[in-house]
Amino acid sequence: MREIFDAIQKSAKRIKKAIDVKDFGYSESENSSGETQLQLDIKCDMIIEEEFSRIASINTIASEEKEEAMHFHADAPYFIAYDPLDGSSLIDVNLSVGTIFGIYKGGFGAENMVASCYIVYGPRVEIVFAENKVKLYLLQGDEFEYVKEIKLGEKGKLNAPGGTQQNWLPYHKELVDSFFKEGYRLRYSGGMVPDLHQILLKGGGLFSYPATSDKPEGKLRKLFEVFPFAYIYKKAGGEAIDGQNDLLELTCKHVHDTSPCFFGSKYEINRVKDVYANN
Ligand code: F6P
Repeated sequence: MREIFDAIQKSAKRIKKAIDVKDFGYSESENSSGETQLQLDIKCDMIIEEEFSRIASINTIASEEKEEAMHFHADAPYFIAYDPLDGSSLIDVNLSVGTIFGIYKGGFGAENMVASCYIVYGPRVEIVFAENKVKLYLLQGDEFEYVKEIKLGEKGKLNAPGGTQQNWLPYHKELVDSFFKEGYRLRYSGGMVPDLHQILLKGGGLFSYPATSDKPEGKLRKLFEVFPFAYIYKKAGGEAIDGQNDLLELTCKHVHDTSPCFFGSKYEINRVKDVYANN
């Protein structure tokens, strides 16, 4: 695991440099999720692939930017799914973006998850790595330095509701509104990494990306986005569900499967469970 964390740190520094260029132009292609790829998405994917290809303990990698998984060492234990540049459509307006890694042992699937990690490229570059504990690291000069352990409170103050409101189910809208009526503040940038990072570091709240009329299975990808953040939130003392079920109990048939998802502290997630159980 040490060498995987080292490779992630090297990737973070290289991706930060790749982001800091004037022309990150659009490519002609779409990724496996049907989004237009930036040349920058492809470059970040190549950086991570290159760093991971040097590591003997990695069996297979799967990238959000590639249709199929890529096999390295047949007898090695680790399978890593990653989204090289999540929220990359926010790059041109200079909002924060991130990279997400789900680290699995013996095969892809929530039941095999042994660690997860994300990098935030904002005014500062930070890494959150979760194995048994959730730890925050900050890039200082050319090295990442440990900052602190992250723990969620029982209840927060922030509400980050994803998806297009006109496609929300009526009871989901009531749920979101009920938090605002209770005094929760809206915090939603459209980047999953900075939005979930903010809730984690401010002690709690709710991030939701529900089933919608146009996307009944949600938008966010299980292996690259949903499972890694579910692992981090649960290890930090919070909860992560699809409305009813623990996200880490869901199965995953295909590398690019999606799921509705709710991440938060215990208080907010209990409210979600109540509302979804009665609808
Ligand atoms: O997966 C891509 C992504 O950009 C996430 O980072 C983000 O949380 C989500 O999509 C935003 O989607 P929407 O604009 O539909 O709320």
